[in-house]
Amino acid sequence: MQRMKLNTPAGSTEIVVGEHLWSDLKSLGQEAVLLVDEHVLCQHHDIFETFRTITVPSGEQYKTLQTVESIYRELVKLEADRSTMLVGVGGGLATDVAGFVASTYLRGVPFGFISTTLLGQVDASIGGKNGVNLDGYKNMVGNFRQPSFVWCDLSLLSTLANREYVSGIAEVIKYGAIWDVQFMEYLEKHMELLLTQEIEVLEHVVSVSAAIKVDVVEKDEKESDLRRILNFGHTMGHAIERHQKVLHGEAVGMGMIMAAQLSNNLGLLPSAEVDRLQQIVSSAGLPVEMRLDPDELFLNIRKDKKKSGEFVHFVLLDGPGSTVIKPIALTELKSMIHDLC
Ligand code: GLY
Repeated sequence: MQRMKLNTPAGSTEIVVGEHLWSDLKSLGQEAVLLVDEHVLCQHHDIFETFRTITVPSGEQYKTLQTVESIYRELVKLEADRSTMLVGVGGGLATDVAGFVASTYLRGVPFGFISTTLLGQVDASIGGKNGVNLDGYKNMVGNFRQPSFVWCDLSLLSTLANREYVSGIAEVIKYGAIWDVQFMEYLEKHMELLLTQEIEVLEHVVSVSAAIKVDVVEKDEKESDLRRILNFGHTMGHAIERHQKVLHGEAVGMGMIMAAQLSNNLGLLPSAEVDRLQQIVSSAGLPVEMRLDPDELFLNIRKDKKKSGEFVHFVLLDGPGSTVIKPIALTELKSMIHDLC
């Protein structure tokens, strides 16, 4: 089991990575209210049966203010008050919604997460970004507020659909690409064991990823500067996700390859490093080719909340484990996307 702390001026989060962490749920007390992803509740109902639970519907289309509103109403029915601990249980979607509910209900109640997907454990549940989508645009409404704890329960990953698990590996590869060359080498050597969820490899991969995220978030919690590097592959990735039926990690894997190609086109990154990234994404079983409509992609990037005026702040690579953020004018980006597709 690995433990680490994320410290920010507003508070600190204890992060635990290990197996069967759920068996410690009773330490939270019977007053806690669990906001549980519907699939997790269905698969593991025995874990939660002695607790007060509210179901969080699964699916990006439910990550909305309407869902938040209906959870507020259920909390009122349960007479949850300012001292009630809310625990979001599920993947990134459930914890994003639960975090937003907890940080706004009664102007904020204590909360923590039990993260049940690889994507959630290495990225979404850590760092205090809470929120929902608006009119199909991702995470347009939300806030920053850190949970008291995040439990990354590795034993719950075995019931995850394989495609969902593999999708999470894209975010793991991202940390190697943007931050840690040695971690990238480790992933290149251990990909097969990671795919079969060999426990030592899994624990190492989740812990290193979480530690990198902690490092970045502690330096820039509110994403004014450094934290933007965590969006590597996401500008293209979110645009792909809006018009292709793919999972988040599948879109991010493709988005990272395109961002690396763009870095190469701009003379920042050697072709060998683009090939290396493509190779590791492919070895995880993530798609490395997609039929993309460049005009559609461009339109979706225009609407991205990370756009500032007529510029998009693109996270590019300028070497292994090293990033540079470049403002690219929308006028230039259009032809760049046409070159990539
Ligand atoms: N998923 C990117 C971030 O938390 O900043």
